[in-house]
Amino acid sequence: MGLFRTVRCMDETSSPARITYGGYLRLEELLTLQDGPEGYTPPPSNDELHFIIVHQTFELWFKLILRELKEARALMDVERIDEASIPRVVHHLERVSEIFRLLADQWKVMETLSPQDFLAFRDRLGTSSGFESWQMRELEVLMGLDNEQRMGGMDPLAHMQRLAKEGKVPAAALADLEATSRAPSLNDVLTTWLSRTPIHGSSPQDQGDDAVVQAYIDEHLKAMRVHGEQVIAHMTAIGHGEEATLRPRIEAGVQAAETFLTPEGKAVRHRAGLLFIESYRDLPLLSWPRRLIDSFVDLEQSMLLFRAHHARMVERMIGRRMGTGGSSGVDYLDATTKYRIFVDLWAVRTLLVKRDALPEMDNADFYGFTSSGSTHS
Ligand code: HEM
Repeated sequence: MGLFRTVRCMDETSSPARITYGGYLRLEELLTLQDGPEGYTPPPSNDELHFIIVHQTFELWFKLILRELKEARALMDVERIDEASIPRVVHHLERVSEIFRLLADQWKVMETLSPQDFLAFRDRLGTSSGFESWQMRELEVLMGLDNEQRMGGMDPLAHMQRLAKEGKVPAAALADLEATSRAPSLNDVLTTWLSRTPIHGSSPQDQGDDAVVQAYIDEHLKAMRVHGEQVIAHMTAIGHGEEATLRPRIEAGVQAAETFLTPEGKAVRHRAGLLFIESYRDLPLLSWPRRLIDSFVDLEQSMLLFRAHHARMVERMIGRRMGTGGSSGVDYLDATTKYRIFVDLWAVRTLLVKRDALPEMDNADFYGFTSSGSTHS
């Protein structure tokens, strides 16, 4: 209460309204929203109240997640990202990751409901399901989940349009989703930013940049081959495999790296930039870029764990039954744990080589170290 009194005193001249704890949080209204839909009889039992509160809490957090991620996207959706903006983007992403971690734990509260106690009111839910959560769909679209990855290639926009027609989703929520679908996703702005990464000090607008990028890729692939030879020698020396089986695997890895970096024989600059940041991550100038990448990875990882914990809670609660939304239930939820939004950030990990196997860096002083000070020289 003390805080709100202080706010009132400071603000007294500009606002005659007396700010109270309940008024500021709109508590009276908030606490009447757990009774179920209008005319819901009998009123929710203790277990059902618990079920409603857990859902509402999730949706409140989703609301904040959307706001945080939109702020992050706005900071990145510019021609040139200001240096000072990167820590702010990281800050937004880190908050969202913490929220997802909290949500992943929150399923434990749901699990205090026994399967039998859930069955006691499950029929009252009809066909309503988390499937209809427009905020969940919007945050997936905002992050940039590719529809091709979705189960059955589901189109979230078409799905929500249909639900809106059936009166299950408000027009304003659909409008928000449509606006988000039209705007660049977080993955889009991240990709654009990565494509501007200076590689060996060369930026996309610099003369000869294509050649620098291609040479960098060639050198890295060479380093992967050398590293691969070392792995083969080591593994065979300690009796963990034979050259005949190890070599094709190592070679397939290098081939996959080449396809990733130059899918149609031409360098994909944002992937090369990403590889560069991840490889030379100790360089001072790359320390914020790598933190930004780490925060995106953390964001996706925390979201995946939230999905995985939901699936396990559901398995415990309803076994292999069909969901109220008509999906296969746990199988569907498990499939969503395979989704990857920031696909390249995950893929690049397979390409990394240990520091002392990295090719010598040109222009190391550009990134804040002299060549002799570089960790990989
Ligand atoms: C007893 C508790 C719960 C059960 C048994 C359950 C079950 C399910 C099932 C089976 C699905 C798949 C869709 C369907 O066919 O219905 C689903 C989806 C979903 N549920 Fe739950 N759920 C529970 C609690 C929650 C809570 C507390 C939330 C929080 C908002 C939630 C959010 C979601 C969301 C967002 C989806 C869509 C997931 C996606 O499509 O990626 N669920 N749930």
